[in-house]
Amino acid sequence: MPETDEFRPENRIGAVLVSSRSLDEYRRMFALTGADLAGRVLDCPGGAASLTAELTAAGGHALACDPVYERPVGQVREAALESLGRGYAYHQAHPDEYVWTYFRDPDHYLESRTRSAELFAADRAARPENYVHAELPALPFADRQFDLVLSSHLLFSYADRFDREFHVASLRELARVGREVRVFPLVSMGLAENPELAPVRAELAAAGLHTAIRPVDYEFQRGGDAMMTISRAGHDSAE
Ligand SMILES: C[S@@+](CC[C@H](N)C(=O)[O-])C[C@H]1O[C@@H](n2cnc3c(N)ncnc32)[C@H](O)[C@@H]1O
Repeated sequence: MPETDEFRPENRIGAVLVSSRSLDEYRRMFALTGADLAGRVLDCPGGAASLTAELTAAGGHALACDPVYERPVGQVREAALESLGRGYAYHQAHPDEYVWTYFRDPDHYLESRTRSAELFAADRAARPENYVHAELPALPFADRQFDLVLSSHLLFSYADRFDREFHVASLRELARVGREVRVFPLVSMGLAENPELAPVRAELAAAGLHTAIRPVDYEFQRGGDAMMTISRAGHDSAE
């Protein structure tokens, strides 16, 4: 194995994390209002996030999908806790890449994400029908089945493993199943901005989809403080 920084174990995140963000993080990452959350919401990928659990508990209509739901809930919970440890080690190795404003410190991060993983696990055990096994770029949902589709920390996050074709196909699929799509973040781990962002937007425009970049009141990865909205041209609900 080469002895460069890039290949030292602490400098690689490894397999895609199964993260567990809270409804409050989603509210800020996606600048969500009460009206945004009043319709049918899809969280793709849901991972071990507690958006679906918390929205359902509040009387909302949310569904999560993720390929990891092929595994039983106990295994996904374990994967989420293991991911938390990996995320924590990555933050320690890359302090310059993170901004500690939303989370006060690493303990606050661990506490919040552990709570969300536990809320996810309890809700999936109680309401398994709200957690659908599905893998981008093909989803088992009807056209415009959802009013709002939220996609956090998969697309644009892992520059090293998903190519342009995957991004375009996945975003077109998310726009097929939802009236509006929001994607966060637009930066890759370890990079300022994913170089695929502009070409992917151009391909979406050619496919009749309107995209816009909006700043949001959330930053954890340094520079990750904007989301992309996608809607059918002529049906713009953002901007
Ligand atoms: C970093 S987590 C994000 C989870 C959640 N959105 C959050 O922010 O807490 C990334 C998730 O993407 C899922 N994933 C990996 N490949 C995928 C694909 N092709 N389609 C959909 N989800 C995928 C993983 O299983 C993992 O749960």
